[in-house]
Amino acid sequence: MLDFPVKAKPKSSVPPRWRKEVARVLITEAQLALRVRTLAREIERDFLGRETVVISLLNGTVMFLADLLRHVTLPLRLDFLGVSSYGEGARSGELIFTKELRLDVRGRDVLLVDDILDTGGTMARVLPKIRALKPRRIKICVLLDKPARRVETIEADYAGFTVPDEFVVGYGLDFAERYRNLPFVGVLHPHLYKQACKRINRK
Ligand code: IMP
Ligand code: MG
Repeated sequence: MLDFPVKAKPKSSVPPRWRKEVARVLITEAQLALRVRTLAREIERDFLGRETVVISLLNGTVMFLADLLRHVTLPLRLDFLGVSSYGEGARSGELIFTKELRLDVRGRDVLLVDDILDTGGTMARVLPKIRALKPRRIKICVLLDKPARRVETIEADYAGFTVPDEFVVGYGLDFAERYRNLPFVGVLHPHLYKQACKRINRK
């Protein structure tokens, strides 16, 4: 797998509107666009024109998925699995399924898409659920890979960028459901992140 570590951008590149909340831009809009295109090509090459079911985890994948799929020319069907962690936490905790799959994936090639592979806890719970439906194979595609925090032995087959152990937001990724609309991926100000952790621990 190709690795695309990202270099920090100077603080000044954070648009003024977001400067109080976003410490720095980690991946620019242009870098995202370029890498998402090459990811689409890698996927096409491996799936060899096979009928594919794309299963995308809600809600963090919206932007990435929309950009990725417009460059994938495979015959595919698209379904969504709603996963949500309890409360307004920053990290994944107890998982609940908020939307179930509708499409039949038996005997099909599945491309499972998520925004970020962090501890691997989400994937560890989602994979058995999909495996039980007897697909031919499951390949995992994530925009971001944060290997420093991995707990489960799960790796992505396709990963857009490797990111450092910092809380990132934007391009679909949220902090307490906010910041999904940033067109870039940025590092959340640690003071916001720490405040939220304190609030959660007090509950
Ligand atoms: P994991 O279950 O720890 O692998 O984390 C996966 C989920 O946690 C992702 O789908 C995200 O929703 C969330 N997550 C983990 N790290 C971050 C981050 O840095 N920013 C935003 N969301 C994150
Ligand atoms: Mg999330």
